[in-house]
Amino acid sequence: MKRLAAISAILSLVACQPDTSPAPADSAPDPLKSGYDFLQAQTQALQDDDFANPGFLWVDRGEALFSEAPADGKACSTCHNDDGLSLAGAAAHYPQIDEESGDLVNIEGRINLCRTRHQGLQPLEYESDDLLALTAYTASLSRGAPISVDIEGAAANWYARGRDYFETRRGQFNLACTQCHDDNWGKKLRGDTISQGHGTGFPAYRLEWQSLGSLHRRLRDCDAGVRAQPRDYGSDDYLAVELYLAKRAQGLTLEAPGVRR
Ligand code: HEC
Ligand code: HEC
Repeated sequence: MKRLAAISAILSLVACQPDTSPAPADSAPDPLKSGYDFLQAQTQALQDDDFANPGFLWVDRGEALFSEAPADGKACSTCHNDDGLSLAGAAAHYPQIDEESGDLVNIEGRINLCRTRHQGLQPLEYESDDLLALTAYTASLSRGAPISVDIEGAAANWYARGRDYFETRRGQFNLACTQCHDDNWGKKLRGDTISQGHGTGFPAYRLEWQSLGSLHRRLRDCDAGVRAQPRDYGSDDYLAVELYLAKRAQGLTLEAPGVRR
């Protein structure tokens, strides 16, 4: 029954739209609104209060990990606090191209590169508590910083790939991201109000997850919601979408750790 209700809610949402291919959504929604603006007041209050916001459990854990030195290596804090490689504001400029490898990396990827390149450690598994904690801590150092990413040069193809992903219909429901997050934001769907689909609150604590989760986890839920095959954590498709979303969110600020339904 629950499943049927969900399906009919989605179908009624698209039924009122003319069946044209998605409008080119290269431009950002106007006016730009954070996912926060679509939350109920009590969820907003949870995000606003650093003591009540459960995301800060991960931030605190991340801060502790940040100053833990591996047996024969340096702690993150040795380079990034003591040696002055400040991370304040850094997360607002990700994903970006890593110069050494030429690959697009998000904050999770950058942290793992520092582990392998600078600490002699193994990369952390995507969505592990430790990687979430370090990501949440790093992102929290950029709270309030304006999102601004580079989509020129080597990033241009990634950006185009992310835009394609956003505009391509998929899954049993044959829906593109843009149809919900550009064409229908502000409307109700299964007890949620559809937002503009920005990534600016992630990693975020979702009440539904009872946990902090990455942006890629949220994207997997959206893909599963239209009965499409979710991509892997850290996959090129999701990295590309993350870049597209960050460019589209230019004008908003980073608010991680967000709290979401
Ligand atoms: C059937 C409609 C639908 C489709 C299609 C869809 N989403 Fe969502 N999405 C939602 C709903 C509902 C939520 C939860 C409420 C909200 O924040 O919008 C959500 C949440 C999100 C969020 C979190 C926003 C926040 O502030 O917490 C992001 C990011 C997002 N979607 C991106 C995408 C991307 C990228 C795609 C395509 C791969 C996609 N969505 C496809 C309905 C959809
Ligand atoms: C030995 C020094 C060193 C250690 C230890 C180190 N880093 Fe780094 N970090 C760097 C350097 C150098 C860069 C610049 C990119 C590069 O050369 O890899 C960097 C870049 C970064 C960036 C991107 C900054 C920006 O402005 O784009 C983040 C985020 C980061 N490190 C997080 C961490 C975290 C988290 C840890 C611990 C898990 C860590 N680093 C450990 C040296 C270090």
